[in-house]
Amino acid sequence: MKTRNYILIAITSIVGLAVMTSCGGGGKTGSEGTQATEEPAAAAGPSAEQMALGEKIFKEKCIVCHQANGQGIPNVFPSLVGSDFLLNQKVLAVSQVLNGSEHVVANKTVKYPAPMPPQVGTHEEAVAAINYVLNNFGNKGGFVTVDEVKDVVILPR
Ligand code: HEC
Repeated sequence: MKTRNYILIAITSIVGLAVMTSCGGGGKTGSEGTQATEEPAAAAGPSAEQMALGEKIFKEKCIVCHQANGQGIPNVFPSLVGSDFLLNQKVLAVSQVLNGSEHVVANKTVKYPAPMPPQVGTHEEAVAAINYVLNNFGNKGGFVTVDEVKDVVILPR
């Protein structure tokens, strides 16, 4: 009984493989190109545009303190590389870019001599900057969406 099941499974797999290869091996059809673009833009991560905006903001603003390599200056500006706060509290990190570190309550072990001032004025910019630093300097930190931070209030300055 058992052996027969195994044989059945084996046959099904072989037939399955044969069907798959015969379909995939066919010549190019006109619809191939369009099919790819019709696929839903699943949770694939930030768009190239958003990453480019994040890079621009980083180079204009963040780089001064956090340095070109993202490693900051010990005891003055924290390193963003492997930062526990950045990687694990993405919404708070976005909030800090919008409102400055004085307005963000987070569990921080290191005290810095000066707070981080607010950097940008829109959720889109803050998300772009955070997604950029989450995925550069060796960080592979995933990403945050504008929708996830829509409740973060932008404080008046
Ligand atoms: C004027 C200097 C300065 C600038 C500019 C600056 N930061 Fe910061 N940043 C700091 C300081 C200081 C801290 C630590 C604040 C604290 O915890 O009190 C910090 C902390 C952070 C943290 C948390 C890291 C950790 O482990 O605590 C993130 C994330 C961050 N900054 C991202 C950014 C981004 C993104 C930008 C640009 C949009 C930016 N910063 C611009 C000074 C700066």
